[in-house]
Amino acid sequence: MQALRSSEQIRNVNTRYHDVAAAGYDEKWGIDFGATGRGQVLGKVRKLLGDVPGEQFQSAVEVGAGTGYFGLNLMRAGLIRELTCTDISSGMLSALSANADRLELTPVTTVQAAAESLPLPDASFDLVLGHAVLHHLPDLGAAFSEFFRVLRPGGTILFAGEPSLVGDRVARVPKRASRALAPLWRLGLGATAAQTQHTRPRSGDHQLEGEVDIHAFSPGALARLVQRAGFTAVAVRGEELLANWFGWFNRGLEATADPDAIPMWWRQYAFRGYLWLQVLDRHLLEPRLPPAIFYNLLLSARRPLEA
Ligand SMILES: C[S@@+](CC[C@H](N)C(=O)[O-])C[C@H]1O[C@@H](n2cnc3c(N)ncnc32)[C@H](O)[C@@H]1O
Repeated sequence: MQALRSSEQIRNVNTRYHDVAAAGYDEKWGIDFGATGRGQVLGKVRKLLGDVPGEQFQSAVEVGAGTGYFGLNLMRAGLIRELTCTDISSGMLSALSANADRLELTPVTTVQAAAESLPLPDASFDLVLGHAVLHHLPDLGAAFSEFFRVLRPGGTILFAGEPSLVGDRVARVPKRASRALAPLWRLGLGATAAQTQHTRPRSGDHQLEGEVDIHAFSPGALARLVQRAGFTAVAVRGEELLANWFGWFNRGLEATADPDAIPMWWRQYAFRGYLWLQVLDRHLLEPRLPPAIFYNLLLSARRPLEA
């Protein structure tokens, strides 16, 4: 069990871990800024807002933007015109700026800041968005108040990629199974084992990975948090079940092998299989099953128009 830590300590651990993780982040998580990445992020927006026209949001601010997976892809897809990217980690924001430059995306501004205290003016954005960030925030009440404050009346919040309580527990099964089966898998592929921490020098802050995730959510608790901050039209949906089991299982296997020893056909199979199962989840399971059992939760809400 983790020792109780203050909000400041949690933010500090997140900053240090994400600063050192930034350089290899896109490769580790298979982040794509091409058609696949665009299709994925637009798919998430559609699940929440339905079919959306191009350039619906003139100005948007992303919190915990990382290297830009969500916001830059949505900008490329034409949904966002001007993007302000905030993150607590300067390392992540440097990687994001490099991605934005490479993709020739403008205007993209970066601001190093915690989500709970945004140095941005009141009522200045049409959209506040984030992906895989809420579960790192020690003070969610303060964060949602900030999102409300910087949004224009009538503006929208959009969050995706947040772990659900049930989904997070269920994902332990494929993670454990992959650890148990990894030696057989490596034998079958002729892949050598990854160097362990004892033989591969690692920076101390890389080892903070197990300490940065501090929440998993039930759909009801997430909705209540948002309503308490003053938002209306709150919607919470679930996504990815089979795709996540498959993804965690393969990721667990791959983590035990020397990356250069994993054959390309396996990587293709793992990637295409994941995309195919996402389609199956989207069409077959997501419309029929309750959000709580999926691995990821998606959230949208609106700041009410003032009377
Ligand atoms: C799992 S990464 C997700 C990055 C990116 N949104 C993505 O989907 O690839 C979480 C991000 O949240 C940032 N973060 C963690 N705690 C934060 C806080 N209190 N305020 C702002 N950003 C934070 C981290 O630095 C990191 O970039």
